[in-house]
Amino acid sequence: MIFVTGGAGFIGSNFVHHWLGRTDEPVVVLDALTYAGNPENLSSLASDPRLQFVKGDLNDRTLLDGLLSRHRPRAVVHFAAETHVDRSIRGPDAFLQANVLGTFHLLEAVRADWGRRPAPEQAAFRFLHVSTDEVYGSLAPDAPAFTEDSPFAPNSPYAASKAASDHWVRAYGRTYGLPVLVSHCSNNYGPYQFPEKLIPLVIHHALEGAPLPLYGDGGQIRDWLYVEDHCHALVRILEAGRGGETYNVGGGCERTNREVVESLCRILDRMRPRPRGSHAEGIVEVPDRPGHDRRYAIDAGKIRRELGWEPRESFESGIEKTVGWYLGHPGWVDHVVRGAYRDWIRLQYGPEGPAAPG
Ligand code: NAD
Ligand code: DAU
Repeated sequence: MIFVTGGAGFIGSNFVHHWLGRTDEPVVVLDALTYAGNPENLSSLASDPRLQFVKGDLNDRTLLDGLLSRHRPRAVVHFAAETHVDRSIRGPDAFLQANVLGTFHLLEAVRADWGRRPAPEQAAFRFLHVSTDEVYGSLAPDAPAFTEDSPFAPNSPYAASKAASDHWVRAYGRTYGLPVLVSHCSNNYGPYQFPEKLIPLVIHHALEGAPLPLYGDGGQIRDWLYVEDHCHALVRILEAGRGGETYNVGGGCERTNREVVESLCRILDRMRPRPRGSHAEGIVEVPDRPGHDRRYAIDAGKIRRELGWEPRESFESGIEKTVGWYLGHPGWVDHVVRGAYRDWIRLQYGPEGPAAPG
C-alpha cells in the first residue's frame, strides 16, 4: 500500500481518486483537516475498503510511527502543507510548522521505519516529496523556463518553507540513503481546489456577482497544469523515477493572470451568462501581493524524455472542464465558502470584499 499525506486537500484528493481509479493498491491518507482539508473531497470513496483515512498532524510523531509500522507502506507521497502564498505573508509561522517541521518529523519517522526493513524492501521504497516551482523564484519575461538545475531563490515565506523542506528531503537521500524523489510542479487547477486560489475564487465570485480581483496590473505569468495531469506525472515518477532525482512538471501553458480571468469570464458568459453584459465587467485591479513573483515557467523536458510523461489537457480543455465541475457541484462550493473562507476574504480583500469596478 501507499501512504499519502494531505490527501484531503486539492491535489492530494485528486491523486487518491486518480490512484484508486487505476489500481487496487490500498491507500492510507493522513490529513490534519486544516481549513484547506475537506473530507467531502473523498466522500465518494467513503465506503471503499481500499482507502483508510486518518485525521492527524505531521508533527505527531507517535501517530506517524504507529501508522508506518502498522501499514508498512511501500511508498510515501507527501502533499501535506500550508499552501497559500497570501496566507504565508500574513502568518508565516504556520508554514514553518507544517512545511518545515512537519516534513522533518515525517522524514524522521520514515527513516526509523525504513531502517528496520530488509534490504530488498529498502531498495524498493520511495519517498516522493511534492514540491513547487515557486522555490526557483521569479523569471524575467524572456528568460528560459526553470530546469531541475535552476538555483533556488524563494521569495515568499511559503516558497521559503517549501525550499527548506526540499533541502531536508535531499539531505535524507544523500546522508541516510533514503530513496527520495522530489517533484517541482507549476500552478494546478481543477476540481476540489479551495476558493482562496485564483481560478476557483474567480469562478465563485463571478457566480455571486462579486468583483473579480486582479493583483497589481494582472500581468504576472503562471504556467498552468490541469491537476489530473499532475497526478499522472506523480504516478510516473513513483513508477519509474530514479531515486535521488528531481523532476519538474508543468503544462507549457503560460498565461497572464488577466488572460486566465478573461478566459474564465468567456466560458462563464456561455455557460452561466449574466442578465446583462459580460462577467469580465466585474474585473477590478486591487493592491498587489508584496514580493509578487512576476513569472514562472517550467521546462518539463526531463520528465518527458525519461518517463514519457505528457500533459493530456490543453489550458483551454482543462479550464472548460474545471468551470463545468464547479457549476456541477454547487453543494461542495456552498459548504467550502462558509467559515474559514469568509474570514479569509474579509481579511485579504477588506470587510466588503474587493471594491466593485468603477
Ligand atoms: P491544499 O492546501 O489544498 O491541501 C493541503 C492539505 O494538507 C490539506 O488537506 C491540509 O489539511 C493538509 N495539511 C496541512 N498541514 C498539515 C499537517 N501539519 N499535517 C497533516 N496535514 C496537513 O494544497 P494543494 O494545493 O493540494 O497542494 C498539495 C501539495 O502540492 C503542497 O505540498 C503544495 O506545496 C504542492 N503544490 C501545489 C501546487 C498548486 O498549484 N496547488 C503546485 C505545485 C505544488
Ligand atoms: O506555482 C505553484 C504554486 O501555485 C503552488 O506552489 C501554490 O501552493 C499555489 O497556491 C499556487 O501559487 P500562486 O500564488 O501562483 O497561486 P494563486 O492562485 O494564489 O495566484 C495565482 C496568481 O493570481 C498569482 O500571480 C496571484 C494572482 N491573484 C491571486 C488571487 C488569489 C490575483 O491576481 N488575485 C487574487 O485574488
